Amino acid sequence: MRVFDQKKELTSFLQKEIAEKRTIGLVPTMGALHQGHISLVKTALAENDLVVVSIFVNPTQFDKKDDLEKYPKKIEQDLDLLSSVSQQIVVFSPSADEIYGNNIKSQAYQFDGLDKVMEGEFREGHFDGVGTIVELFLKTVSPNRAYFGEKDFQQLQIIKKMVESKKLPYQIIGCPIEREPNGLAMSSRNERLSKKVRQEASFIYNVLLTAKTKFGTESAYNILEWVKAQFEKNAFLKLEYFEIADEDTLTPILKKQANTKYRAFIAVYANGVRLIDNLRLN
Ligand code: PAJ
Repeated sequence: MRVFDQKKELTSFLQKEIAEKRTIGLVPTMGALHQGHISLVKTALAENDLVVVSIFVNPTQFDKKDDLEKYPKKIEQDLDLLSSVSQQIVVFSPSADEIYGNNIKSQAYQFDGLDKVMEGEFREGHFDGVGTIVELFLKTVSPNRAYFGEKDFQQLQIIKKMVESKKLPYQIIGCPIEREPNGLAMSSRNERLSKKVRQEASFIYNVLLTAKTKFGTESAYNILEWVKAQFEKNAFLKLEYFEIADEDTLTPILKKQANTKYRAFIAVYANGVRLIDNLRLN
């Protein structure tokens, strides 16, 4: 398995692959890889000749220094895991210096309001940071297709918007959420939970499943109130937001409209660790 930490060396390697008409898939990650990431890598391997997995904890998308510092870093383990999956994988794991030099800053993007709600509301500057790094990786790798998880559904929609509005020639592909056996969405942050809280956190998915059942018969307002009440009774988990929104525009639901796909979105603190999840409702 090839591992690069310099942009130049990666691009000159990839240029030869492109010249030989090999297709490239890109899977951007921040490492501490789990089966959620691996499911993206496997989909990318099935659809492309070569898959570039980037591993980079991007400083510009963290609004809290503490969260950045505590983000798990396991490069050796990640490389072992990837090389056990396939030798058709190329890893790009640059330093912050290689990416940003001494100017650790985001560009400003127009995402048509997709960045103003939920994660954008609670994590200042987050999506400008994500846009900046994903645009840079896309332009460095020039993949035919790039893969993102629905786990970060808002991120997926924002990247689709960026690619469309900048007319970038890459296909963006969304992949389903992988879950732990108890239903908790897989996340690198789950490792920071105690065993007990990791079990209790299955509550998040169970609430989403019940919200989905209720969505057939109850108003969105009633569901919101019901969700809040469930978390008030839970000693382990603190609700940050619960929203039901149109999955294309991410605008919060006012009144159910026909021909609209609705999705529930949630962010919760567990043991001081921020967890997000979402579920299609109809
Ligand atoms: P990270 O959180 O490492 O996630 C990398 C990719 O894996 C994202 O597309 C994310 O949605 C996907 N993913 C994470 N957990 C998943 C799960 N349980 N099921 C399916 N897919 C899952 O998202 C980022 O990194 C960063 O913001 C990044 C896009 C790399 C930019 O820095």
